[in-house]
Amino acid sequence: MSAAAPAGRVTLVGGGPGDPDLLTVRAVRALADADVVLYDRLAPHTTLAELAPRATLIDVGKRPGHHAVPQHEIDALLVEHARTGAHVVRLKGGDPYVFGRGGEEVLACRAAGIPVTVVPGVSSAVAVPSAAGIPLTHRGVSHLFTVVSGHAPLTDDELDRLAGLGGTIVVLMGVNTLPSLAAGLLRHGLDRTTPVAIVERGTRPDQRTTIAPLDGIVVAAGIAHAASPAVIVIGEVVGLASAGEAHALATIDRAGALGVEP
Ligand SMILES: C[S@@+](CC[C@H](N)C(=O)[O-])C[C@H]1O[C@@H](n2cnc3c(N)ncnc32)[C@H](O)[C@@H]1O
Repeated sequence: MSAAAPAGRVTLVGGGPGDPDLLTVRAVRALADADVVLYDRLAPHTTLAELAPRATLIDVGKRPGHHAVPQHEIDALLVEHARTGAHVVRLKGGDPYVFGRGGEEVLACRAAGIPVTVVPGVSSAVAVPSAAGIPLTHRGVSHLFTVVSGHAPLTDDELDRLAGLGGTIVVLMGVNTLPSLAAGLLRHGLDRTTPVAIVERGTRPDQRTTIAPLDGIVVAAGIAHAASPAVIVIGEVVGLASAGEAHALATIDRAGALGVEP
């Protein structure tokens, strides 16, 4: 009788926005059971040795300006480790299916015949504004929100539709393309006084929020040296931001004066 191949499996785990306290119970259980963990830069990795004590930890994260492990190699690593019989946890920032290439990894596992499950995570798209005290919806102010990627500049057509939707706009990966986004939204009719918040490193101890009107946000971002990772929130709800919940709040008025509240 030939020995059966060991049965490995892959669990894609949404790790939340960064604070390990925002991992779900199911995520913590999956990590505790993991033999191998492949993790991203934005996943909560600082406490991984504690959360996954039996696991081999592999950093496959992208760092700005540094070479990242290409997606096809990550897919291959998942399959290769699972084929040894291991429980492989793929720990991703936020939710695996929100701008996270989780779908591609699930398809790669399925194509290789590897059982794969997904643990949903707390997405930065909602958690980071919330941690900064910005309600994405608020009765009488905004009854919808749209989440967009700023990884590449939006087309003029997309900007036109986005500006016409109303409600709150949430932008991920948008720090570098903020100038074209702000200019495009102004061109397509958004009021120049519409408040904008840039929330950097949300839920982490050094979280910071910078707020300015739409026609001043690019200058404000420059003064504040705003950098990734950041979630940008555009809309009247930003006016409801509570400094108490933001770790640091910098507001830049239309004349360019900087106000900072700890
Ligand atoms: C590749 S996307 C992944 C999003 C992730 N799947 C999610 O659901 O949150 C990475 C972007 O998420 C946002 N992001 C993730 N964690 C963040 C944090 N702690 N603070 C601010 N932005 C964050 C940033 O816009 C960052 O560039």
